[in-house]
Amino acid sequence: MDHEVARTLPLADWAGPFMPEDQDAALSALEAGQVLVLPRLAFRPLPEERALLGAEALDQTRKNISLDPATGALHGTSLGADQQAHLAAMLGRFAGQAQTLLHGLLPRYAPALERARTSFRPAEIAGRSYAPRKDDTRLHVDAFPTRPQRGRRILRVFANIAPDGAPREWRVGEPFPDFAAKFLPRVRAGLPGQGWIMQRLGLTRGRRAPYDFLMLGLHDAAKLDGDYQAHAPAASLSFPAGTVWLCFTDAVLHAAMAGHCALEQTFHLPVAAMVEPNRAPLRVLERLAGRPLA
Ligand code: SIN
Ligand code: FE
Repeated sequence: MDHEVARTLPLADWAGPFMPEDQDAALSALEAGQVLVLPRLAFRPLPEERALLGAEALDQTRKNISLDPATGALHGTSLGADQQAHLAAMLGRFAGQAQTLLHGLLPRYAPALERARTSFRPAEIAGRSYAPRKDDTRLHVDAFPTRPQRGRRILRVFANIAPDGAPREWRVGEPFPDFAAKFLPRVRAGLPGQGWIMQRLGLTRGRRAPYDFLMLGLHDAAKLDGDYQAHAPAASLSFPAGTVWLCFTDAVLHAAMAGHCALEQTFHLPVAAMVEPNRAPLRVLERLAGRPLA
């Protein structure tokens, strides 16, 4: 790999204070498509939460437990009411810390940043088997069938809280513009009216723009291309337990290879809030396609 896939900062407190040079470094690393690694910024589960960190917290049919910020409801768990309350409290605390971090470290984004789901990922990744499209051990950019973004960025904060100290292992691929140039010719932007119909049928929350069809196409095409998965340039990143990291997962080609017990907080950000909006996948795809996509 000839580009630096990660940038590390020694931040030790979720609430800062943050030095201007760290704020600048964080923002430019993220917009450039790097993973920002914060090895000193641990999320610490409370004693009553430690008991929940086993994979048995997980409903066997789902890989994640998530907290919906709008309703406060937990999805994907078969835990009893008491334990659900502890889990919801842990996810809520993580969400709050992640938000505090982003507001302090990326003040430019703060007014536009929207908090979305929080997830807990207890299950061991290595050795699971999924259909290729759902297999996150294959390099991909994030795009979700039911949640159109219409160009909005996906910024995710992760924390490895594995009680046994197991690292979370990622692979990170080539820069988005290189990836997109290779795969865009193979994907389709949806038929006229298709986004509208899917919304009316309740298949999507909000209407897919051509951008969403293309991003889903890129997600699937990359995962289904065995040759690309085997031979594309990629670097390994290992996140020890106690580490926090974040990136724009709609632009960073990533694959999660091993590990268990991670927390993840999703934020959405309008392209216009970026310092360099031309680096947004929306703008990259629009340049390649030669037309507006959202
Ligand atoms: C993914 O977004 O593909 C999975 C990341 C992770 O759970 O580490
Ligand atoms: Fe992903």
